[in-house]
Amino acid sequence: RINITETFAGISYPGHLHTRESLKLAQDFQFQDTDIVISTFPKSGTVWMQEILTLICSKGDSLVAETVPNWVRAPWLEHTYFRETVQENGGLRIITTHLPYDILAPALKNSKAKVIYMARNPKDVAVSYYHFHKFAKFLPEPGTFGDFLDRFLNGKVHYGSWFQHVKSWLRHQENASFFFITYEDMHWDLRGSIEKLCGFLNCSLSSEELDSVEQHCSFNRMSQNSMVNCTLISPEIMDHSKGKFMRKGIAGDWKQHFTVAQNSLFDHIYQEEMCHCKHRFHTAL
Ligand code: PPS
Repeated sequence: RINITETFAGISYPGHLHTRESLKLAQDFQFQDTDIVISTFPKSGTVWMQEILTLICSKGDSLVAETVPNWVRAPWLEHTYFRETVQENGGLRIITTHLPYDILAPALKNSKAKVIYMARNPKDVAVSYYHFHKFAKFLPEPGTFGDFLDRFLNGKVHYGSWFQHVKSWLRHQENASFFFITYEDMHWDLRGSIEKLCGFLNCSLSSEELDSVEQHCSFNRMSQNSMVNCTLISPEIMDHSKGKFMRKGIAGDWKQHFTVAQNSLFDHIYQEEMCHCKHRFHTAL
């Protein structure tokens, strides 16, 4: 295990990918008006969105999606390699972040960058995150699912509290350059979701181009694409014998993991935390 942690603004991050400098640089980043920012809490469908946007921007041509790793074509703003990876001048850029809104607020307020916030049923986020901890060696050992779920509910996992993250971003939902979508929207209606994203981005694609985007970002196709399925990451960083990044790709897997007691505790905390949030996640599905 690579047990290094970086703490920034009260939230812990894996030290393998983040330093105080990289987080500070993220906070001070100057967005361009043409930037497209993907913001998510981990395990909410980040890489799926990276793939969809890559394909929308290439009008369904899969060359970039199949030859350039996702962290190069849509780098994470807060990671240590960001500055050397991001294109410097002009051009359309896809930038990814797991940071809460408050850290990026000053930088985003000064730009017209388009922000896509993607969220997922938090019960499925917890399950996906738990499995990810088993093989991502830059995250701590998860212990039992029950132990991990307690830490998740208390915001004591890397990247902090799911509730705070979602609430921080959704407060800015009314902003014209902000687009909110859920993993479940995409799971239940991928074609419709791609069309809505095209509308938000002012990209008009023919129906053949849309067909191609849809095909290339299916779970099966992405599972076989080494540019997104994490198989390029070395065994020192990810123990590929202990799990897969493209694990199940379904909605509602929490039902296979939660006990009745864990579910009612989760529902109770969800109600308390989210009672003022305009969006209701389908946490019972
Ligand atoms: S990370 O590590 O934060 O970047 O992970 P993230 O990409 O946010 O989330 C990983 C989960 O998204 C699932 N995934 C997909 N589901 C459906 N269709 C497609 N195309 C797809 N691509 C990625 C991936 O399988 C992880 O979810 P789980 O539940 O673990 O399978």
